[in-house]
Amino acid sequence: MQVVSAKFDIKNANQIEVAKQHGAYSNLKQILSLEPSHIMDLVDKSGLRGKGGGGGSCGAKWKNMVAYASKTNAQKRYLVINGDESEPGTCKDKYILNLDPHLLIEGIIISAHGLGASRAFVYIRGEYEREFVSLNNAIKEAKDELDGFEIVVYKGAGAYVCGEKTALLESIEGKRGHPRLKPHDKKEPDFLFGSPCVVNNVETIASVPFIVKNGWEAYRSFGTEQSPGAMLFQVSGCVNSPCVKELPFGYKMIDFINEFGGGVWRGRELKAVIPGGSSAAVLTKDEVLKATLDYESLKEFKSALGTGGMMVFDDSVSMPNVLLNLLEFYTEESCGQCTPCREGCGWGLRVVEKIVHGEGKMSDLQTLKDICYMLDGKTVCVFAPAVKDVIMGFITKFESEFKALIND
Ligand SMILES: Cc1cc2nc3c(=O)[nH]c(=O)nc-3n(C[C@H](O)[C@H](O)[C@H](O)COP(=O)(O)O)c2cc1C
Ligand code: SF4
Repeated sequence: MQVVSAKFDIKNANQIEVAKQHGAYSNLKQILSLEPSHIMDLVDKSGLRGKGGGGGSCGAKWKNMVAYASKTNAQKRYLVINGDESEPGTCKDKYILNLDPHLLIEGIIISAHGLGASRAFVYIRGEYEREFVSLNNAIKEAKDELDGFEIVVYKGAGAYVCGEKTALLESIEGKRGHPRLKPHDKKEPDFLFGSPCVVNNVETIASVPFIVKNGWEAYRSFGTEQSPGAMLFQVSGCVNSPCVKELPFGYKMIDFINEFGGGVWRGRELKAVIPGGSSAAVLTKDEVLKATLDYESLKEFKSALGTGGMMVFDDSVSMPNVLLNLLEFYTEESCGQCTPCREGCGWGLRVVEKIVHGEGKMSDLQTLKDICYMLDGKTVCVFAPAVKDVIMGFITKFESEFKALIND
């Protein structure tokens, strides 16, 4: 079943005439004549979960924002689309932006109607020049369908942390992209230019036309009870055919790697997989053999489905080296406003560097655990706790490789 990838294999489906021949904007007038609350109900009942990494309920987030905006008589509401896609191992939103930008625009028009949003903003990763051009061209083509509704396309400047929704909002407002302190009241929505807004991932919003046109039952008819529907899964690393493929939730991870990724390359053995973009804890081979591609299964292994981007490692890969590489990334990308994150990432990097270069001590493993304690639950955003999950995953599951480097 294809929710967002139905037009990926159709030539020139990024052009409005071709997209329309394959169902884009069909019944749009009729859909826009529906009560906004009806659209919200459909999305809520479908069980659609956010595809940006957290996997929260899309319907609950929408209802929360609308209730707050009504209660406070907000003059404006906004819809913000997160196309920052900077999580290592993740490359799905670019497929939608390049191959079927009209699906995203249709999703924006319908979602904005449901939310009562007067304008939409799309934030695109700084390096995504082609995607930026593709979406802007499609917006120009869809002038009639937009009927005066404005979509502002905003380009990032290459900071990973600007994918965090509040850093992204700060960035759109023209400020430094630092995550905001979270409000004590969980019912308070996010705000852009002082008005309530929702932030959703590109794939989340691109899923909305399918749900509204086919009904929530159609979306729920595949996937699992708690992870309904489908997702664009990605596989990269030590496989024969890195790919992006939409599948219902619940598919066996190892089957995905073998059937769509062409299996582990060069006749080697599987060693490990990072399942959901680099911020999800690494899985051992045994765990990969048991895991299914849904939120609950990955949670059982104290990891996360995240963005559905799997990175595969074969038995020739040194796991301390992989951790070193990841910590270089996180040290570079920490926005620096929280001391535990700013100092902890760099400190962790220096310790792992020492171990990899044969200068480590056994006590360094305890130092890494102490750094993880500092990174967890003491910072403005979940960047630092995610780095803790990354470090702990490597040093507990592949402890023997770290010890071997230290002993040698
Ligand atoms: C450090 C960091 C980076 C993130 N990067 C992205 C990103 O590139 N794209 C994205 O959609 N969400 C990203 N997120 C998640 C967003 O904060 C937010 O939860 C998401 O955009 C909400 O959309 P969804 O509910 O549709 O998933 C990131 C979160 C963190 C903490
Ligand atoms: S946890 Fe790190 S990335 Fe997040 S706000 Fe603090 S310093 Fe910035």
